Amino acid sequence: MKILFIGDIVGKVGRRVLSGVLHKVIDQYKVDFCIANCENAAGGFGINVDIARTLLDFDINILTSGNHIWNKKEALELLTKEKRILRPANYPEEVPGRGSMVTETASGDKIGIINLSGRVFMDSLDCPFKVAVREIENIGAESKVIVVDMHAEATSEKVAMGWYLDGRVSAVIGTHTHVQTADEKILPGGTAYITDIGMTGPSDSVIGIKKELAIQRFLTRIPKKFETAKGIGQLNGVIVEIAKDSGVAKGIERIQIGYE
Ligand SMILES: [Fe+2]
Ligand SMILES: [Fe+2]
Repeated sequence: MKILFIGDIVGKVGRRVLSGVLHKVIDQYKVDFCIANCENAAGGFGINVDIARTLLDFDINILTSGNHIWNKKEALELLTKEKRILRPANYPEEVPGRGSMVTETASGDKIGIINLSGRVFMDSLDCPFKVAVREIENIGAESKVIVVDMHAEATSEKVAMGWYLDGRVSAVIGTHTHVQTADEKILPGGTAYITDIGMTGPSDSVIGIKKELAIQRFLTRIPKKFETAKGIGQLNGVIVEIAKDSGVAKGIERIQIGYE
């Protein structure tokens, strides 16, 4: 089973890139299932109903998210109604939405997805390591294939999660920093791992934001509204190949595609 996992989709440019290249990537790599992180899809911050629908119409099967999912009010209702969007599982229980699910590929093979948030330099949520084990117990009987979106800032926390879940899930995929790392590997227990798959959005930017605004904030420390950048775009992600019967990862390949 081949899974395409797309890094954080940022704003209009990210959506334009997907409409231009996603089909080609799916065909070229013979992708069976597509997951994308949508936390920055609406103007760089959050998600709304229309954009969620657009992304799901692009042949993305499941959307994961992270800390920015709450930026648009519509997300609260969306997470309750639209079962194809996840938020990190380690938010408090009463928060709308859910953090894990089991679904099927087009050919009927089961796939589980777990969304987690890190806690280092981020909100102090429940322990993502303990919550990961809880969620694996919840969905493990239903699906051998389990893909984890570890949405976190600190590389150490992500690397630790990879080792902690090695042999228990098919893949631990890092998101949130918007910068792709070159450490993709199959861990000894058969789990595919990468610290961050990067961003699908504007290339000439500071992690998606207009570079002039980001630089100005660093120079002055005066808060000013951020805007997403325009111009050329990029698709960042990984293709993970997983044995569907055992859930063991066979390969992981990074993808970086530019798009005018
Ligand atoms: Fe993000
Ligand atoms: Fe994030």
